[in-house]
Amino acid sequence: MTRSPQTEYNTIQVEPVSPSIGAELSGFRMNGEVPTEQLAEIRQALLDWKVIFMRDQDVEVSEHIAFGRLFGELEIHPFARNMEGYPEVLTIHHTAKTRAGQNNWHSDVTWREEPSLGSILRARIIPPVGGDTLFCDMNAAYEHLDAETRGQIDGLFAIHRFDRVFGGKLSEEKRAKVLDEYPPSRHPVVRTHPETGLRSLYVNNSFVSHIDGMAEDESRQLLQRLYRQASIPEFQARLRWRPDTVAFWDNRAVQHYAAFDYHPEERRVERVTIVGDRPE
Ligand code: SIN
Repeated sequence: MTRSPQTEYNTIQVEPVSPSIGAELSGFRMNGEVPTEQLAEIRQALLDWKVIFMRDQDVEVSEHIAFGRLFGELEIHPFARNMEGYPEVLTIHHTAKTRAGQNNWHSDVTWREEPSLGSILRARIIPPVGGDTLFCDMNAAYEHLDAETRGQIDGLFAIHRFDRVFGGKLSEEKRAKVLDEYPPSRHPVVRTHPETGLRSLYVNNSFVSHIDGMAEDESRQLLQRLYRQASIPEFQARLRWRPDTVAFWDNRAVQHYAAFDYHPEERRVERVTIVGDRPE
């Protein structure tokens, strides 16, 4: 199996939740005032564990935003529901009247030319049981492919499109207009993390339409084979939320899946998303 990171931390506590992905962090409040040394350790923990969890962060929305800005510029999502007065906060709210769409393995906004670096998701309303989020270590998912498949996908590119998820809500005319602004993006099937140098599988069933230049059937079969890697429990961490729990994932290294097993209960979470770079 993948080796656990061995970093020693001096200013925060870091408790792994699995050998290679996910750690619970404590010893700081999530806001814009995090001291420099702590901030460096939080960054390192994110790189080491790919997704980090913080409990009992009863912070203001402005503190959530300020914390996000410590890691980079924030995105404004053009299609999702953003919080009134805080366009950089995306809200995901499900009640007895709605059906969730995040129960699919994906990385966020891969339809962008520069998909996000990471997302910081804070829980507001959580069902008494259920509504967990699962995270998959896509470096482990890549490393555990057989050598032949790794050789086959090296150098391939996939096409990612916003309209696979968000297109259904748009009229034909609007969809064409939005496609001008957000045309399909072409990203490597295996990306190299710009900070750790680790290679990860970078295709997801939400946004990828096909492998560039490959026959339709072959592309579909290869993608199905690659998507199955995310469902292997040994590569996963699972978060059981409480109100004011926060998950901060490295969108360049993990995929996530929000289990929709709580209908008709209510679940509401708020996401701040950090702008990333072009996958290479
Ligand atoms: C998301 O897919 O960004 C949200 C995940 C969740 O609701 O747990």
